[in-house]
Amino acid sequence: MKKYVVIGNPIGHSLSPKLQNFWLKENNIDATYDKIKLDTHEIKNFIQDIKEQKIAGCNVTVPFKKTVIPFLDKLSLEAEQTQSVNTITFDNGDLVGHNTDIAGFSIAIKKLNFKINGKKVLILGAGGVVPSIIFALKNMDVQEITISNRTKGKAENLKVLFNDLNILEWGNLTDFHVVINATSLGLNNETINLDFSSSGNDKLFYDVIYNPNETPFLKIGKQLGYKTENGKTMFVYQALEAFKLWHKIEPKVNTDTIKLLDND
Ligand code: ATR
Repeated sequence: MKKYVVIGNPIGHSLSPKLQNFWLKENNIDATYDKIKLDTHEIKNFIQDIKEQKIAGCNVTVPFKKTVIPFLDKLSLEAEQTQSVNTITFDNGDLVGHNTDIAGFSIAIKKLNFKINGKKVLILGAGGVVPSIIFALKNMDVQEITISNRTKGKAENLKVLFNDLNILEWGNLTDFHVVINATSLGLNNETINLDFSSSGNDKLFYDVIYNPNETPFLKIGKQLGYKTENGKTMFVYQALEAFKLWHKIEPKVNTDTIKLLDND
């Protein structure tokens, strides 16, 4: 039986096994999907297990999306340009790193009734998923992207990949049409200490977090009368794109799929 896994640290709260196993069953594929917590020094041996096909393929989550790159044979264009891998396949003897977070985010935005091209985007945070979000936003022809992160150096580092970013001091606010929370603030009900109240109209508040469903950040957006969206659709579609890469089948997304993620 083929074995797929998601690696990360921490990994306990990952809902990938639930979703991937649901789709495996629905499509009568004889395979399993588990989660494994790894330390950095264990990554090399783990990837060797994929090369030897003891493991058929894997997803990669925080904090290893960049760590895995030196151990792979090839990268997709998206993975190369974002230096971020969330899915590994084994194709014709080669370990290939892909980035399906980009498609996940792009599909999530397209499904919203919100015209994003020509808009000013403010991203809060500079962690593992941010290069993928920036890459997707650039393909959507946004007007400008500003990054604000507590550790300014990490925001500055993103300029190596994307040279035309604006950097904003953490704690400050700038004019925006779309604000994206890509920090971990909200996972445990923390608020973001910014005053969004004078932000004008027709705005989108997007949170990468999907559990809880509505972070304090999204609650504020909603109270101010703006469109809000959590990271659930992005999560589902990055998983769908990974499933397609491994199994060459497009799984269904419906209310059952979404409900799977609500129960936790
Ligand atoms: P990683 O940084 O390992 O990729 P992540 O979960 O992808 O992990 O990113 C966490 C993000 O949340 C980072 O942008 C982090 O800011 P720092 O780079 O300064 O660490 C941000 N974050 C976490 N806790 C925060 C807090 N209390 N206040 C502000 N930002 C915070």
